[in-house]
Amino acid sequence: MSNKILKVGVFTSGGDAPGMNAAIRAVARSCAYYKLECFGIMRGYEGMIDGDIAPLDARAVGNILQRGGTVLKSARSKEFRTPEGRKKAYDQLKRHNIDALVAIGGDGTFTGLHKFYEEYQVPSILIPGTIDNDLSGTDYTIGYDTATNTAVEAIDKIRDTALSHNRLFFIEVMGRHSGYIAIHAGIAGGAASVVIPEETMSFDDLYKILGEGQDTEKKSNLVVVAEGSKIGDAHTLAKKVAERSSYFDIKVTVLGHLQRGGSPTYFDRVLASRMGVAAIEGLLNGENGVMVGVKNHDMVYSSFETVIGKHHEIDAESMRIAKILSI
Ligand code: F6P
Repeated sequence: MSNKILKVGVFTSGGDAPGMNAAIRAVARSCAYYKLECFGIMRGYEGMIDGDIAPLDARAVGNILQRGGTVLKSARSKEFRTPEGRKKAYDQLKRHNIDALVAIGGDGTFTGLHKFYEEYQVPSILIPGTIDNDLSGTDYTIGYDTATNTAVEAIDKIRDTALSHNRLFFIEVMGRHSGYIAIHAGIAGGAASVVIPEETMSFDDLYKILGEGQDTEKKSNLVVVAEGSKIGDAHTLAKKVAERSSYFDIKVTVLGHLQRGGSPTYFDRVLASRMGVAAIEGLLNGENGVMVGVKNHDMVYSSFETVIGKHHEIDAESMRIAKILSI
């Protein structure tokens, strides 16, 4: 690969996130601005292996800023996890004369990019795009704000019906390994309790909180449960509470993939736009093997080694606030 960057390939991979299109647009337009050629790689690493690659000029990314999903499509590639798959991908990049990569995705995308970078040294930058907000090296990932707003809107609606019937609702939000959506949607939605993978709350602790609500005549109870809860998903917790007490009229709502869709919030659009520009300017300034992030409102670059595999811890302050306000 030559040192001078002329052709940049951009792709989205893993779970889609609202704002990915805004990031794609920002990458393509920054390339046009700095007179680089931009190529869209379809379906993440799958499209890279298959050579599903096409030019992406400034006009090609018109009218996508406000759209959810990803126009480049996404996939979780099994083949890219093999050395043979990565070799095929490298050969395709060479065939298209692509000399730098901008990947938009979460931890799976990051792991793949890091491995590929170690093996082939293709100049690469990661833009963190995942609703989970679980990547270290950035305060926010693209899509997290939109997904959390979607969850809050749903919780507000459930509250109306919960209150009308004096019901206890278990509301499950996404986050296999991360409680970010749960903790912040829980605070914003006024949850009685929030169950997240990072916390060591036992079922008895949860039951005690619900019992206290009963003693103080709380009329409705909303418990927000992150998908990856260590003490059981929303259905399991609901069942366990019902087994212990017939006092509660219990319902379960799993929000699921609706949190992944929808038009990105202004926050995610601005974040994605800033990260897209920072990725291309970073590449031009010699940044390489780094993830773009935002820390205390500033754009930062962190080397793959310093952030890969590190969980973005939930701040203790959010946990404390959720507890105090659930009384
Ligand atoms: O990583 C984003 C995410 O939405 C997680 O919150 C969730 O656990 C997972 O993806 C679901 O993945 P899939 O869409 O492949 O079922």
